Amino acid sequence: MNKVSIPKSFRVKSFGCQMNVYDGERMAELLGAQGMDAAGEGEDADLVVLNTCHIREKAAEKVYSDIGRLRREDGSSPLIAVAGCVAQAEGEEIMKRAKDVRMVVGPQAYHRLPEMIGKASAGERVTDTDMPAEAKFGALPARRKRAPSAFLTVQEGCDKFCTYCVVPYTRGAEISRPFSDLIDEAQKLVEQGAREITLLGQNVNAWTGEDAKGRDIGLDGLVRELAKLPDLARVRYTTSHPNDMTDALIAAHSEVDKLMPYLHLPVQAGSDPILAAMNRSHTAESYIRLIERVREARPDIAISGDFIVGFPGETDADFEATMQMVDTIRYAAAFSFKYSPRPGTPAATMDDQIAVEVMDERLQRLQAAITRDQLAFNRASVGKTCQVLVERKGRREGQWLGKTPWLQSAHFTGDYAVGDLVEVELLEAGPNSLSARVC
Ligand code: 5AD
Ligand code: SF4
Repeated sequence: MNKVSIPKSFRVKSFGCQMNVYDGERMAELLGAQGMDAAGEGEDADLVVLNTCHIREKAAEKVYSDIGRLRREDGSSPLIAVAGCVAQAEGEEIMKRAKDVRMVVGPQAYHRLPEMIGKASAGERVTDTDMPAEAKFGALPARRKRAPSAFLTVQEGCDKFCTYCVVPYTRGAEISRPFSDLIDEAQKLVEQGAREITLLGQNVNAWTGEDAKGRDIGLDGLVRELAKLPDLARVRYTTSHPNDMTDALIAAHSEVDKLMPYLHLPVQAGSDPILAAMNRSHTAESYIRLIERVREARPDIAISGDFIVGFPGETDADFEATMQMVDTIRYAAAFSFKYSPRPGTPAATMDDQIAVEVMDERLQRLQAAITRDQLAFNRASVGKTCQVLVERKGRREGQWLGKTPWLQSAHFTGDYAVGDLVEVELLEAGPNSLSARVC
């Protein structure tokens, strides 16, 4: 392998979930702190980090084609690092198959990127997929990102072992970051201009810690503490598991004004036998009861969810139960996916894998129902007044885009700046956004 010089510019490309987006931001801050510059749009970068996702579909194949596309016209390539969950799951294979890749770095090891880059620049090919790495966050530079809405990873990993899911294998066991580190990081983000913080975790509502007085607290306690930061206006959290939805967290939705009325609570399916085969440890009924309790605490809350269609063994009747679930809950938003067998997960080798045409048809029906409900939710918001957090300029002159408390995109015109909280009346609804008028 040829020696290359230490990179001066970098690009981090993140795929997949918000936790990957967060990791990508922290990698960028880490590389920036080493004196490297982020390459602009369309500019050639000396170092490219592909921060990959392994949750569905042919993620690894996509990584190989991305690597191929990075080759320059003269046959050279940038220094390529494959990071994220594909790196964790298939690191060795990537090193064998893609000779241009110089570094493979798992989600728990990316704080060691600088030393890996040093070695890779000297001609070595380096793999680091060690986990867990409690030291990771402590070894990263302080937050520098400036944005009105910021992510903060509070919890990583998963012990739930849903039978279709790779997360417990790629991200490891559940760990909660310490309370004081989170308050410090939140304070930094607020100092840089964040008005809204979204707490992230694969099982964010499983977060536990000790507050400043040494008392054991859960996510509700963390939310209550963050709400005390004067310049922070909004707190959100995602993604939650139904089994970790405590009474205290539900109560926080009625008691903490800064906690936004939005809950992403995946159900995955509406049929009990399928939920059992998925190892979800809740039933359709217990999920519906839980949502009822959340709605009692915060009647206007927007509920969102995730669904998988075509899990092995899913009959027409099972799928109808999923459609029934949608009709019962009336989601404000939801993500739905075709089941994708993930190597190494129990469901991948189950009998009765479902034909792709069947999955396609089910997915279409499900998505039509979800879009119907999303539009109905947005229409029901018309006439409400609320605050919108301004996130960016719109396409038209003087137009701004922001988010309502229910995470809807709203657009309006006026003389504002990113990060402003603007009181608006919601005027007209589409399935994906609303128009608004400043009050
Ligand atoms: N196939 C399809 N969808 C999946 N998800 C997780 N694993 C799979 C899989 N193997 C979906 C779930 C989860 C979301 C993040 O991705 O709905 O909630
Ligand atoms: Fe995956 Fe289930 Fe854990 Fe969510 S709860 S990350 S779906 S194993």
